[in-house]
Amino acid sequence: MSILQTKDIRHDFHGLAVLFGVDLEVAEGERRAIIGPNGAGKTTLFNLITGKYLPRDGAVLLDGRDITRRPVYWRARHGLARSFQITNIFRRLTVYQSLQAAVLSRRSIRLDFIHQVSRMTAVNQEVDQLLERIGLSEQAQVPGGMLAYGQQRALEIGLTLALRPRVILLDEPTAGMSGEETRHVVDLIKRVTEGMTLVIIEHDMEVVFGLADRITVLHYGAVLASGPKDEIQQDPKVKEAYLGEED
Ligand SMILES: Nc1ncnc2c1ncn2[C@@H]1O[C@H](COP(=O)(O)OP(=O)(O)O)[C@@H](O)[C@H]1O
Ligand SMILES: [Mg+2]
Repeated sequence: MSILQTKDIRHDFHGLAVLFGVDLEVAEGERRAIIGPNGAGKTTLFNLITGKYLPRDGAVLLDGRDITRRPVYWRARHGLARSFQITNIFRRLTVYQSLQAAVLSRRSIRLDFIHQVSRMTAVNQEVDQLLERIGLSEQAQVPGGMLAYGQQRALEIGLTLALRPRVILLDEPTAGMSGEETRHVVDLIKRVTEGMTLVIIEHDMEVVFGLADRITVLHYGAVLASGPKDEIQQDPKVKEAYLGEED
């Protein structure tokens, strides 16, 4: 059974159709890239998966369970994590405090319980491990807003990991980065999400081929092709519609 599935998802904005019945099936542990030209509907598909929008028609399933009408926070609690949505709060909190807040929220520990030393020790150990994993141990006491761009991305990944998600959704995680920053963040994503289910929207083909094992091509709001990355790379339809395009 797929861990994440969309069934005949349709959506429009003010009567203008943008998704025309999208079927997506992601298996547990899979690394899926969603590619397609600008305006194809990739981000909209994510917004329907995470619950930001309610689809006009069709269904979203997590572990075979229909979650189409569940609110965003419910989906997040049940393992659907979307990264790259850093909020202003995390700009003021230190890296350590941000990760601590995320771990506390996952463990459902209320703030009036944090004086319990044993609980706090476990939480802090987890924060230290996360800092190590994302390579920000040295920056633990730095406010999020003061971090370099690539380090902010690393913190966002850490916040996502703190929730122990079952599916990680990344929307163009390397957008706006230099070549060197991109390589650094791709390496980080690869390392820290190993063995986890990852769905990534990405236009940089080097990033796609570095991170994904299967690719879904979205074109004008419909799936043009879906399959193992080497098959997609050779697919004449895909070449014509997308891969051959000048970026
Ligand atoms: N909130 C919105 N309101 C109106 N139109 C939108 C909205 N979000 C996206 N669109 C439109 O939907 C289409 C798909 O957009 P999007 O999902 O962002 O594409 P992609 O992420 O593939 O570039 C585009 O034509 C875009 O202009
Ligand atoms: Mg987009």
